Amino acid sequence: MRTTTSRITRRAMLAAAAALAAGGAWAQGDTVKIGVILPMTGPSASTGKQIDAAIKLWVAQNGNKAGGKKVEVIVKDDAGVADTTRRLAQELVVNEKVVALAGFGLTPLALATAPIATQSKTPMVIMAAATSSITEASPYVVRTSFTLPQATLGLADWAAKNKIRKVVSLVTDYGPGNDAEKYFAERFTLDGGTVIEKLRTPLRGADFAPVLQKVRDAQPDALFVFLPSGQGAAFMKQFAERGLDKSGIKLIATGDVTDDDQLADIGDVALGVVTSHHYSAAHNSLANKKFVEAFQAANKFRPNFMAVAGYDGMRLIYMGLANSKGAGGDALLAGMKGQVFESPRGPVLIDAQTREIVQDIYTRKVERVNGQLYNVEFDTQKAVKDPAKVK
Ligand code: DHB
Repeated sequence: MRTTTSRITRRAMLAAAAALAAGGAWAQGDTVKIGVILPMTGPSASTGKQIDAAIKLWVAQNGNKAGGKKVEVIVKDDAGVADTTRRLAQELVVNEKVVALAGFGLTPLALATAPIATQSKTPMVIMAAATSSITEASPYVVRTSFTLPQATLGLADWAAKNKIRKVVSLVTDYGPGNDAEKYFAERFTLDGGTVIEKLRTPLRGADFAPVLQKVRDAQPDALFVFLPSGQGAAFMKQFAERGLDKSGIKLIATGDVTDDDQLADIGDVALGVVTSHHYSAAHNSLANKKFVEAFQAANKFRPNFMAVAGYDGMRLIYMGLANSKGAGGDALLAGMKGQVFESPRGPVLIDAQTREIVQDIYTRKVERVNGQLYNVEFDTQKAVKDPAKVK
């Protein structure tokens, strides 16, 4: 026999599902709302700060109309807690009747929300999270950030071509770290190299001292690192404090570690670090120069890869609304697929089949340019698809 509690829970769940299914009441009036959920506080607050600033810049430059409707952007802070993200998404869909959900600063926050996008047929734009599987969690997920497999393969190739034979990898122990570790090791092994040890640190409260000691003991040619945005400065500080910068072990990483948001804080220990990623504030194009200038005029900090994905995510929603003539749901989703445009990062395409961004990936080295540290791009892989979806 069922207990009363489970009957109530079941009834509440059915009511919630019905409310979500009715969420498609968007676009009845003259206004469409976009619900943005970001970590504005907590350990990933820099991601929220960057994306929020980029969204505001997009609206300041492009106005608050799209597809013949007035656009209202609602920003909510989830503090990086998945239960909060899911609750906020539910409220935005049911009460605010948002036409799109956007943001998602970390993989677990995106994965917690994907079922809500599916049930309510609400397009969900991933502006930060980068685990490959997120786009498979709902047919309504579209991504403007990147995937770790996408950002990692080129670096494995670069390492193998540059006399690096033995590598230790160090990643944060969750989705994007798993992807980075796996795809780096697979490619580097194909290239003839060996990953001699695979180390992990927790997402919250990482202490790098024990793993750095293991790296020193293993004496690899290079240490390959992925850490989420915001952890690079703490890691690099400990790397230098333990003398690893002078140990002959070369540091290579995804661009999340030499993040434009933190590069000035990291300081000279970053000089010469080779990374691969999809965006550098130093990217040499007219579109990027304009973006960086406008962003810095409006904010007291440099845009990083989170900002560019927030900016492009807004473009995707605006162009989608133009294509759907202001309608939401499947019409908006269809309007987002297959878009091709020039981003500040370079040329991009939203793959209509996978809903993933296809983009150039750059190999970069940290250098001093006009007195400031930048990730200076020196090699480009053109139009890289998420390798996890290329079978
Ligand atoms: C993720 C978060 C980050 O800050 C980053 O740089 C890469 C990936 C994530 O949680 O998916």
